[in-house]
Amino acid sequence: MKFFVDTAEIDEIKDLSGMNLVDGVTTNPSLIAKSGNDIKETIKKICEIVSGPVSAEVTATETSGMIEEGKILHSLSPNVVVKIPLTWEGLEACNKFTELKIPTNVTLCFSAPQALLAAKAGATYVSPFIGRLDDTGINGVDLIGEIREIYDNYDDLNTMILAASIRNINHVTQVAMIGADVATIPPKILKELVKHPLTDVGLSNFLNDWASTGQKIK
Ligand code: E4P
Repeated sequence: MKFFVDTAEIDEIKDLSGMNLVDGVTTNPSLIAKSGNDIKETIKKICEIVSGPVSAEVTATETSGMIEEGKILHSLSPNVVVKIPLTWEGLEACNKFTELKIPTNVTLCFSAPQALLAAKAGATYVSPFIGRLDDTGINGVDLIGEIREIYDNYDDLNTMILAASIRNINHVTQVAMIGADVATIPPKILKELVKHPLTDVGLSNFLNDWASTGQKIK
């Protein structure tokens, strides 16, 4: 499973990209707003740091506007993936980008039929939002399982499942077990993946025992 980092903060991306952990980046209009920076400058900078796919979202709601904005965003760097909302107009735009061979990430997916439509439109990625579904009392991880099963039934559906709206480390484990192609993870949660209290206790015990030997490796 690929790890994308879900942020528009340049410093966070720089910090994580040194470890070869980050295969790509996802942004959205809220993350750009939170960063306080210009979208085009931000996307360009991210693409200078990360060589993998970088999702940049259109904000037009009509098909023609989405196509115009998507072309502008993709012109910033060849690794820009045009992020499009899962609406009828978004699917029309997605079809067009498929024709143009511009990669797409169809976002705001909350149901299996929506994911089926995104795949039919040739989306490169579909982004089901796990955490936001959980917030409504519906199990978001189950949706990833449904989409995996559907896509695996048909050789001609090649859209990758990008598990989004990840809120905790358990979400990461669960989507990996189901076989999501990508998880886009907020930096804070990505760093939490390494933590386990027994690792800390175990290391502390090893170091105490080692100190009692008086030995040194170098
Ligand atoms: C990423 O592509 C999504 O926009 C993001 O994961 C949404 O996360 P949120 O529900 O925490 O805002």
